[in-house]
Amino acid sequence: MFPFNHRHNASPHVVGGSSLIFISFLLLGCGTGGSSSSVPPSVAATGTPGAEATVDERLFLDTRFAQAFKVFLDNGGNINDPNAGDPVVDTVETTVVGVPIDPSPFKGMSMNCRSCHFVDDVLTAPGGGMRTYADFARQSPIPARADGKTHTPRNSPALVNSTVARPGGVLFHLDTEFNSTEDLVAATFTERNFGWLPGERAQAVAHLARVVRGDDGSFNLTDQSGAFSYRILFTGSNPAIPDELRRPPEFRAFIGSGTDQEIFDAVVKVVAAYVNGLLFSQTDDSGAPIRSPFDIFLEINGLPQQPDNGETQLDYSRRLLALVNGLAA
Ligand code: HEC
Repeated sequence: MFPFNHRHNASPHVVGGSSLIFISFLLLGCGTGGSSSSVPPSVAATGTPGAEATVDERLFLDTRFAQAFKVFLDNGGNINDPNAGDPVVDTVETTVVGVPIDPSPFKGMSMNCRSCHFVDDVLTAPGGGMRTYADFARQSPIPARADGKTHTPRNSPALVNSTVARPGGVLFHLDTEFNSTEDLVAATFTERNFGWLPGERAQAVAHLARVVRGDDGSFNLTDQSGAFSYRILFTGSNPAIPDELRRPPEFRAFIGSGTDQEIFDAVVKVVAAYVNGLLFSQTDDSGAPIRSPFDIFLEINGLPQQPDNGETQLDYSRRLLALVNGLAA
């Protein structure tokens, strides 16, 4: 279902034949670094750097954290059957009014992050194509509730490189609602995009924890091998977990004994790490820098491609502008 999974390959690779290239979390072998007399820590203890993001694409894709899935459970639905039947995800809205992409990859299920932040999910569908975690609509459709709201105020922006550090710190959403990825993810899981009304935050937290606790690993929209439950994956150390899925200690949690809030916080932390890891590659397989059309423009015109030593970004930009304005052609 999802041929593109940039987390499973240690080297950057081209997405779906387009020229977009993503960098993967490098699944580095664990260097032992210790002296020869000490026993190197096992992978089970240290985890595999970046593994949290491999695992957490699954949470980004999981459709069961939505309010509609709670209704489905309350009506006797099975926690490992994703087919909650929220019509909001049956089709993918496009900018052409009344002509959605049909079916959506999540038809029959309920809302997840990916329903608003697509990649190659509808690559070949008429009206579809590649996205860097954005959607196709003018405003993203949201689940129906009694408040009558149907759409977000804006469309969803691309997420690749959205969290790159910048002077003054990061700010998310057009109205600068959040200044950390964690805050954004925690709010998104408990607010209107997932079907929750104001006042339902506690319900949303409890519901997410219930799904994580009850997951048996059989519903997994990624192409990870093995059907590990969240309970096992979050331990990080369970011997059954393949090394590439072993999350480092800071991303581990005890789902069995955790409170709702602890489980919720653990999920937020790893989904935030996933989003923070969505970066464009800057080098190709051979280590050579990947050149953007802008870089090539600079090169062809003999313009400086980066600030001089000690030159600020702003001074460099000003110098560049003057040079560009001075170009004959
Ligand atoms: C119902 C659609 C919808 C869902 C579901 C959704 N998003 Fe979004 N997302 C949006 C929209 C719309 C925006 C832009 C909001 C704005 O600017 O006001 C956005 C913005 C963002 C941003 C900020 C990007 C920036 O540069 O400011 C991040 C990060 C993000 N979403 C991550 C997530 C994650 C993680 C999830 C799942 C927990 C998620 N989104 C679920 C629609 C959605």
